[in-house]
Amino acid sequence: MPVTVTVALGDRSYPVVLDTSGLTGLAAALSAATPRRRVVLVTEDVVGPLWADAVVAALSGFVVDRVVLPSGEANKGVETWYRCVDAILRLGVDRKTPILALGGGVLGDLVGFAAATVLRGVPFVQLPTTLLAMVDSSVGGKTGMNHDVGKNLIGAFYQPVLVYAALPTLDTLPVAERRAGLGEVVKTALLDPTPGADLLGDVERSADALREGDPNATARIVGACVAIKAAIVAADEREAGQRAWLNAGHTVGHGLETAAGYGVLRHGDAVGLGLVLETEWAVRAGLCADAALPERLRGLLLRLGLPSEVPSLDRRVVVDAMRADKKTDGASIKIPVPARVGQMTLVDVPVAHLDALLGASLGSG
Ligand SMILES: NC(=O)c1ccc[n+]([C@@H]2O[C@H](COP(=O)([O-])OP(=O)(O)OC[C@H]3O[C@@H](n4cnc5c(N)ncnc54)[C@H](O)[C@@H]3O)[C@@H](O)[C@H]2O)c1
Repeated sequence: MPVTVTVALGDRSYPVVLDTSGLTGLAAALSAATPRRRVVLVTEDVVGPLWADAVVAALSGFVVDRVVLPSGEANKGVETWYRCVDAILRLGVDRKTPILALGGGVLGDLVGFAAATVLRGVPFVQLPTTLLAMVDSSVGGKTGMNHDVGKNLIGAFYQPVLVYAALPTLDTLPVAERRAGLGEVVKTALLDPTPGADLLGDVERSADALREGDPNATARIVGACVAIKAAIVAADEREAGQRAWLNAGHTVGHGLETAAGYGVLRHGDAVGLGLVLETEWAVRAGLCADAALPERLRGLLLRLGLPSEVPSLDRRVVVDAMRADKKTDGASIKIPVPARVGQMTLVDVPVAHLDALLGASLGSG
């Protein structure tokens, strides 16, 4: 039986369906989300050949137009967005035609932004096919794309009407991509504010199973992460408070990712490294009382099969990329760091001091 988590946003509430058996419930879930029988399925050139036919077959009773975009972080930009909206408009959609995004976080973010902008907004459905997209990016309505200056600098908050995660789509995901998704799992486990919960301990105890892609352990952890994200988004949709916790690891992570070149360092890998470096800094700055936490996180990344050492990059380029973070007000950036597991503190770090976040990694300290 699929598990459903609701993102409670009043009349914009929507279900996140986690289906361990595949796509069998998709048609019913889509029918509940929209009265329309004609939909546009947008996917990318890796996922499309693997899963688009299965999605179309599962949508019996629906008329499905298809659009295929280039895959990869390097294609999460204005050219691909334009290709997407151009194709959608030429299909002759109206304001109620649902747009379905079949793919990972790159495709989901980009198609979400296309859905937000075509005709000033058409119904949007996420069909996430990576672990990262299932645990994080498909839920919460952040859509957008990259710019040369920095990651995700163009975008909009735009909630989907349905998220349908068919866990068997993870079977074709390359191992390194699956493991990169565990970077966002570690982030969610680190900040989980649920009283009495111990998701970080759970991830540690299940680390071997998660590294090897055990379906039961994966489904359990996806469910836990989605429930946490859904609750945080419901409480703070526009990131006025606690939602900012979800940016843990991302200031340094985006800096590393941008400096390496989009598509060179995976987003989830970069976030994992960002968590370690930001937590080390928090300990040095006296903001985190748990001095053992950075090593605990580094050890967990290692066990999960993620990179735990920072790649060699030009420190100045990383700092410049961090400076372009969209959370800056020009003078400082609000960065969530752990005071302890389950309790983040939002710290205003002056842009002039961002270098300190990198510690002794990347050469000079
Ligand atoms: N919107 C949000 O709240 C949010 C949150 C976290 C991350 N993100 C964004 O997510 C993006 C990263 O997402 P990602 O890690 O899913 O990357 P991705 O979408 O690039 O997918 C990774 C790779 O796996 C391939 N792939 C996807 N599904 C597959 C499958 N089932 N079988 C085989 N191959 C498959 C893709 O073609 C790609 O090559 C970043 O751009 C990041 O900024 C957004």
